[in-house]
Amino acid sequence: MHFQWYPGHMTKARRMMQENIKLIDLIIELVDARVPLSSRNPDIDELGRNKARLILLNKADLAEDARNDEWVDFFKKKGYSAVKVNSKKGGGIKSIQSVIQEACREKTERDRKKGILNRPVRAMVAGIPNVGKSTFINALAGKACAKTGNKPGVTKGKQWIRLNKNVELLDTPGILWPKFEDQEVGLKLAFIGSIKDEILQTEELAAELVKFLNSNYPGVLEEKYDIPSVEDAYGCLRNIAESRHCLVRGSELDTEKAASILLDDFRAGKLGRITLERPEEK
Ligand code: G4P
Repeated sequence: MHFQWYPGHMTKARRMMQENIKLIDLIIELVDARVPLSSRNPDIDELGRNKARLILLNKADLAEDARNDEWVDFFKKKGYSAVKVNSKKGGGIKSIQSVIQEACREKTERDRKKGILNRPVRAMVAGIPNVGKSTFINALAGKACAKTGNKPGVTKGKQWIRLNKNVELLDTPGILWPKFEDQEVGLKLAFIGSIKDEILQTEELAAELVKFLNSNYPGVLEEKYDIPSVEDAYGCLRNIAESRHCLVRGSELDTEKAASILLDDFRAGKLGRITLERPEEK
């Protein structure tokens, strides 16, 4: 399976990031808790040199909680501040302001030594598309200050959202492009729905997800769809089609439909909390 991206958009996003990054002290980088490394763009380390860094494991509600904690430790060991959050429900959001202060402590200290007092920390949210940047900004700023579904390329004056007297947040998130030269990374991003399904082969993708689930979360599919256990991934899709009465021309099993059901259920968390990559594999 091959994935493509669009270099034009990528260049534009990178240019915007480079411009905005000059204005800020702290990068709040959102990653998807189900795939904390595959949903990162390593370029951020280069772009964000000399900035304070905070990594948020967003959509923590969709990933296994014990794994979330392992990933928080993993990033902390690498020198980042890190916390798990659920931006949709507001879980973990309340504590963020103090985490932001903590992440910027060195910077604030340096300012103090230079005699700069009471200068607010300026922060920017960044992450790949669909990771939850707008949802997070809304949850943090409240009162729907930031529009959800911001699209790249919409230019407007820079707006700062004042979170409190110490922190200001840039209202437009930095859009990072996923790096998926590595097909494994591309596959995981496709599972979580961060690559448009139109460019993917739904059945092939779903079969890959079946293989992953059967070896890492055995029994989940059988229980969810009330199907017998089978080794073969396509056999499993046929069983799901049968169990969910997905038929074409009245009698043939519609495995394409079954594949869509499986992917939708996984993305919505209906198969339970599932983490696709673990820190010890890295
Ligand atoms: P972006 O700015 O980074 O592109 O992402 P955006 O905020 O638009 O969020 C993308 C999708 O992820 C949205 O779902 C949003 O509700 C969901 N989301 C964001 N944070 C969380 C979280 O912590 N947990 C869960 N479970 N979902 C989260 P959508 O399907 O596009 O919209 P909707 O169904 O919420 O209306």
